[in-house]
Amino acid sequence: MNVFLNPEIAHSYDDYYQSDFGKQVDNIEQDIIGALIKELRGSEMLELGCGTGHWSNYFVKKGFSVTGIDISNAMLDIAMNKKVNARLKIGDAQNIPFRDQSVQIISSITMLEFVDDQDKVINEIWRVLKKDGWLILGCLNKNSIIGINKQHDESFRDATFLSVTDIKAKLEKFEILQIKSGVYLTTDYQILDGKEANKDVEPVFIGILAQKK
Ligand SMILES: C[S@@+](CC[C@H](N)C(=O)[O-])C[C@H]1O[C@@H](n2cnc3c(N)ncnc32)[C@H](O)[C@@H]1O
Repeated sequence: MNVFLNPEIAHSYDDYYQSDFGKQVDNIEQDIIGALIKELRGSEMLELGCGTGHWSNYFVKKGFSVTGIDISNAMLDIAMNKKVNARLKIGDAQNIPFRDQSVQIISSITMLEFVDDQDKVINEIWRVLKKDGWLILGCLNKNSIIGINKQHDESFRDATFLSVTDIKAKLEKFEILQIKSGVYLTTDYQILDGKEANKDVEPVFIGILAQKK
């Protein structure tokens, strides 16, 4: 279920990115996605679930020409007010408003968890991607502390988090080129990345680079 249709949740969404915790997590996630996009050829990118444009802005700064779609007017309004240098429009990732095999790169960061039908989205990505086109996904790990405690969080309660195994199964038609993960959190949400102690917990953020072969 998509809680981001709720204007109150949409309006508080970017506050997270401004918090100390959010900034640290964002840096780790940007390193992960940054490593994955180094492999890409081409610059036209369709971003699914662009939300308030945080990652749209990131991809634009990395040199991509971004078209972002999101199903929430409330989230898109915020992105548009930021004047992100991308084409942003309303659209449903379960019914992508693009022709078959028309897109070279599709990205989607932490959207899949919030759609009603994840398999429908994956099928749509397959339909719209050109042969040899790339998919960059950022997902929240079901087995991380955030996934395990999700029922305590208003935004995550009704979301469907995935594990690395789940994601691999969903992307079975694709060739998975790289999986990178990070944001290792203790039970009291201390960030462990870069420290020795991260061996016992699963990371929160999973980045995947896959290709339609
Ligand atoms: C957690 S937010 C992520 C936003 C942005 N990608 C980011 O990482 O900051 C999830 C976004 O997915 C969008 N979303 C949920 N279901 C969708 C769908 N079926 N089609 C397009 N966007 C969807 C929500 O409206 C929301 O903006």
